[in-house]
Amino acid sequence: MANSIFIDTLKGVQRERPPVWFMRQAGRVLPSYLKLREKYSFRELMLNPELAAEVTLLPVNELGVDAAILFSDILIIPEALGMDIKFTDKGPVFDHPLHDAKNQLPLLKTDSSKLEHVYKALDIIKRQKKDDIALIGFCGAPFTTFCYMVEGNSTNHNFPNAIRLFYNYPQIASQLLEIITELSIEYATTQSDHGIDVFQLFETNAGLIPSEVYIERILPFVKRITNAVRSKNTPVIFFPKGLGIGISHINFDIADFISIDWQFSLPEARTLCDSTLGIQGNLDPRILSIDNKDILEKKLEKYLLFGKENLNWIFNTGHGLMPDNKFENVKFVVDWVKKTNWNRS
Ligand code: CP3
Repeated sequence: MANSIFIDTLKGVQRERPPVWFMRQAGRVLPSYLKLREKYSFRELMLNPELAAEVTLLPVNELGVDAAILFSDILIIPEALGMDIKFTDKGPVFDHPLHDAKNQLPLLKTDSSKLEHVYKALDIIKRQKKDDIALIGFCGAPFTTFCYMVEGNSTNHNFPNAIRLFYNYPQIASQLLEIITELSIEYATTQSDHGIDVFQLFETNAGLIPSEVYIERILPFVKRITNAVRSKNTPVIFFPKGLGIGISHINFDIADFISIDWQFSLPEARTLCDSTLGIQGNLDPRILSIDNKDILEKKLEKYLLFGKENLNWIFNTGHGLMPDNKFENVKFVVDWVKKTNWNRS
């Protein structure tokens, strides 16, 4: 690939600055996306490969980020397992959540053809994007996908039904995690076959259980997915949001890079994680909603020393962009990362 700052950084090739992109960069803050949403539902945009490809590339053209992330959603895995989902104003809602998983698991039926539109979108994006822009594929990590399948919605951020099942019926929980993991492996490795440059695994709900429980009961599933993708020579970024001190258990056996949430300072995270692991993150996305650019710039300046000393770092937010983030602020961050002299010798 021609001179991609993103790929070089993933491979450990020294570059003059960190690469920059944002989780949820395609929806939410882009006026052009909101315009498309007046005409099409989120689902229509996601299911139509041409439209999904177009939305994927909007942030590259309008924000100037170094990578494009596939426009899709982590919840298409439950759909491909036979669950009906609606994306509403209040977030995703399943018609029949797995509250009674014991009796419902046998009813799950994998239909991989429901994932075909993603592979078609990837082929189109590959043809349309410039060589120096990296293409990121993704899926949800097993525990977060489990939480949505059992709870059925995200109105209660504690996902009480999912956690109850997880503790009450560990064997049933493991069976469901196994089903999710199997399909995620197929989905992720097929994304690799369709030419993604890097894969990110989103474990947004890692912080809902104690980190030692996460390490014992979930991390083995994560490792199977990440290493299946890595066996295809596709590097992997793992985002275990809220895992806290548990990040010290994430090493190069699990992923190439770890994405750090906004609760840590990056130097703190760096000392906790194995030094071979690259780091991504971790600006608090809420700072992108403020009016005063000086405050934002001061926050950014806190990253100068870290960026000088750490070559295996990808600039990102500590969670996805938010609906009230301002487009000008997000663009300001991209321009700032690009124009700054990072003093790398
Ligand atoms: O990063 C990108 O821009 C690529 C596309 C992407 C979406 N969802 C599009 C989307 C990615 C990577 C995701 C991941 C995702 N989806 C996660 C993990 C990351 C995270 O942010 O925590 C989770 C938990 C979901 C589940 C989900 N999908 C929720 C809770 C919601 C509704 C609330 C919300 O966040 O907007 C969605 C819908 C969704 N997924 C939208 C987009 C652009 C909004 C749809 C719209 O109304 O336009």
